Amino acid sequence: MEEDSRIAAVSEVPDDSTLLFTVRSGFDEEEAILVERDGEIRAWRNYCQHWTDVRLDKGEGATVRDGELVCGKHGALFEADSGLCTYGPCEGAVLEAIDVAVEDGAVYLTDPDYEFVQRGSSIEYDLSSNRSLGFD
Ligand code: FES
Repeated sequence: MEEDSRIAAVSEVPDDSTLLFTVRSGFDEEEAILVERDGEIRAWRNYCQHWTDVRLDKGEGATVRDGELVCGKHGALFEADSGLCTYGPCEGAVLEAIDVAVEDGAVYLTDPDYEFVQRGSSIEYDLSSNRSLGFD
């Protein structure tokens, strides 16, 4: 695996929360999260399927309870391993997957649509509204 696609050590991915990272797709930087369930690690784009401007992980880790990711806004639950929303206003929707792989105790980005940028977010947010700062 390429060292510049290494996201984190497997041991750094919490079992009750998420690990935030940033990827680049073309000129756009986007957030993604790593989540672990039953020893399997998956990556998802960091937004809810109900309101797509709502981040699941706001920088301090999203709640993961009984193997399900919780959206803090209206309480939607997403299976950490399949991304399927099992409860809430977007029930039946699926999170957007990003391909990752584990090798020698580390998680690597393997998705050809994305480049790894950094751990955490590279995007600045207006903390009062939790919206990204930018011109749109
Ligand atoms: S924005 Fe996530 S459940 Fe409504």
